[in-house]
Amino acid sequence: MWLVNVSSNSADLRKFAYFNLINMSEDLQIAKGSKEEQYQSLLPQIKGLLEGEPDLIANLANIAGALKEQFNWLWVGFYIVKGSELVLGPFQGPVACMRIRKGRGVCGTSWAEAKTLVVPDVEKFPGHIACSSLSRSEIVVPIFKGREVIAVLDADSEFLEHFDNIDKNYLEEIVKIVAW
Ligand code: SME
Repeated sequence: MWLVNVSSNSADLRKFAYFNLINMSEDLQIAKGSKEEQYQSLLPQIKGLLEGEPDLIANLANIAGALKEQFNWLWVGFYIVKGSELVLGPFQGPVACMRIRKGRGVCGTSWAEAKTLVVPDVEKFPGHIACSSLSRSEIVVPIFKGREVIAVLDADSEFLEHFDNIDKNYLEEIVKIVAW
């Protein structure tokens, strides 16, 4: 049972509140059901997780973690625009290429064309960069600040034709939550 001594001074109360904050669990509720139902459950939880947190890396890290927990894709994470390259950001999955030039691979093409690319079979995408030999299909979603692409979200699956317009629509919603 938690007891609060109402006569505590404010320093004690702050310590008590901090103790509870650092011990607070952040468990994600993992939904079952259709892909759409899974996204519908996940979207508000991601909004809740990011609320009030201004740090970009912390937010990207938790989005990657939440997507991995819900969907268990082979790889999911971010590349951030730095000069003329994309540089690896927070991700979940096997180690990956660290720098991708604009226009190269699926990620660099999504950046150059400023649009989401759904790739049903990576072997049929000219110039695809194989960070993992297990990847069979991929989706890359650009993240905008105004009209400028400032990062991309990349997800890879070991199954062919794994991503579709449902993923495109929800992932585009999810990346809009990130405050830059
Ligand atoms: N396949 C990507 C490279 C990044 S990894 O998949 C994590 C591409 O072609 O750009």
